[in-house]
Amino acid sequence: MEYPRIIHLKKIPDARGNLTAIEQNSDVPFAIRRVYWIFDVPGGERRGGHAYRKAEELIIALSGSFDVIVDNGRERDSFSLNRSYFGLYVPAGKWRELSNFSTNSIALILSSTDYDEDDYIRDYDEFESYADEN
Ligand code: TYD
Repeated sequence: MEYPRIIHLKKIPDARGNLTAIEQNSDVPFAIRRVYWIFDVPGGERRGGHAYRKAEELIIALSGSFDVIVDNGRERDSFSLNRSYFGLYVPAGKWRELSNFSTNSIALILSSTDYDEDDYIRDYDEFESYADEN
């Protein structure tokens, strides 16, 4: 079974401003198919709250901070993201939810798949059955 984990991305310090880069299949354990970001999140809102059957992701707090809960159907882990050079790798088949967004935070998400609504499991009971079988 694959586990969620924090990936420390390389940070290239520079007095002119730091730089971080990500290359698929080396810095992240998948080929990057899609990139999207979540921004302008009003205070107290949550995003996510679903699982993907196939999609793997890397979630980065590009700006500000937020928490990500990752649930495998039996246990939940909570990760606080607050550095633009840390990424949370979320394997396929995990329920994940983003919350506690700081003002002006930006969540950058790299995904291994195209957007496909059929890949989503949005019902938690359905997810628990899916996690039991997989
Ligand atoms: P969704 O992943 O459901 O976000 P959340 O779980 O936080 O509500 O995405 C919200 C909507 O955005 C969804 O109905 C379709 C659209 N969307 C795209 O068109 N492309 C994408 O890559 C993503 C992630 C979402």
